[in-house]
Amino acid sequence: MKCRTCRGPAIIDLPRHNANFCAEHFLELCRRQVRKAIDDFEMFAPDDRILVAVSGGKDSLAVWDILVELGYRADGLYIGLGIGDYSHESEDFARRFADERGLTLKVVSLRDDHGFDVPTAAKATGRVPCSACGMSKRHLFDHWAREGGYDVVVTGHNLDDEAAVLFGNSLRWDVEYLARQLPVLAARDGFPKKVKPLVRLSEREMAAWCVVRGIDYIVDECPMAVGNKHLGYKEALNLIEEKSPGTKASYYLGFLERMSPLLAGVHERGTAGLSACTKCGAPTGAVGESVCAFCRLAERASTMAPVPVEMVVKKSAARRRAEKEVGR
Ligand code: AMP
Ligand code: FES
Ligand code: ZN
Ligand code: ZN
Repeated sequence: MKCRTCRGPAIIDLPRHNANFCAEHFLELCRRQVRKAIDDFEMFAPDDRILVAVSGGKDSLAVWDILVELGYRADGLYIGLGIGDYSHESEDFARRFADERGLTLKVVSLRDDHGFDVPTAAKATGRVPCSACGMSKRHLFDHWAREGGYDVVVTGHNLDDEAAVLFGNSLRWDVEYLARQLPVLAARDGFPKKVKPLVRLSEREMAAWCVVRGIDYIVDECPMAVGNKHLGYKEALNLIEEKSPGTKASYYLGFLERMSPLLAGVHERGTAGLSACTKCGAPTGAVGESVCAFCRLAERASTMAPVPVEMVVKKSAARRRAEKEVGR
């Protein structure tokens, strides 16, 4: 196996590029793909202050590493979600990465700072844990970006993540979501700009980036996400990708190039009606509510006895079994 660029021994084969690469030229390919995403979608300028949302997983640590390497000013934000050992371990990986490189990492804890955690929030809302989790993360990304005066929030969503979301949205023909599924969300009404510089790189490529660069990351998936629809879509796309390499990239990147422009305008939501949450100051548009959704959740969940992770995981498994039995 020889590197396409230098003909030296290759360390990775990338079927979708129909080529193999040595470590040096693989890293170069990744940097090039990130630079292209940043330029094509005008993600940020060289002097922008960047806040990277880091989960301790491969993607967010890799994107932080790449941005720092490319010379950007990027700090990290880790949110402790209170998901048992999974959260403790992922926090350790994020802290170690930052410490070893002398980078600034802000660590926030849902339990210590807001009086609740994701398993308890799941019980409070009666919905799947990922929905309260996602809402809390988005709220805290926005909050800490405003608080720290950052120009933009970066997340580690990669090509596999975005293709899976696109798959789900198109299975439902959810036109509003499809119209909003862009790697850049402009700043508006007090919400910061949000970008996804890894959309041109796959999960496997990001794992390889970490191995080559010597980055340790949490390998386990969140125990509460196991078996969710999103992971099912990823598996389905991987089966197709195996048979015809490159399908995932052409599906998602082709959507951005050819379909997104046709949907422009669908997602232009009115800016009228937003006011500041009376508790935390965040912009909120909920009709008839002066308090934002996060503060309402915190109010409810923080009065409840903490729910152990295992209870929520078991409940999700039971729900999945029941759904299977009734054929849903
Ligand atoms: P996920 O929603 O878990 O697929 O994560 C998507 C992206 O959200 C990651 O790549 C990170 O950028 C960010 N993220 C996820 N979990 C956390 C966390 N606990 N703290 C900070 N950022 C996170
Ligand atoms: Fe949010 Fe698992 S990381 S529910
Ligand atoms: Zn090479
Ligand atoms: Zn609020």
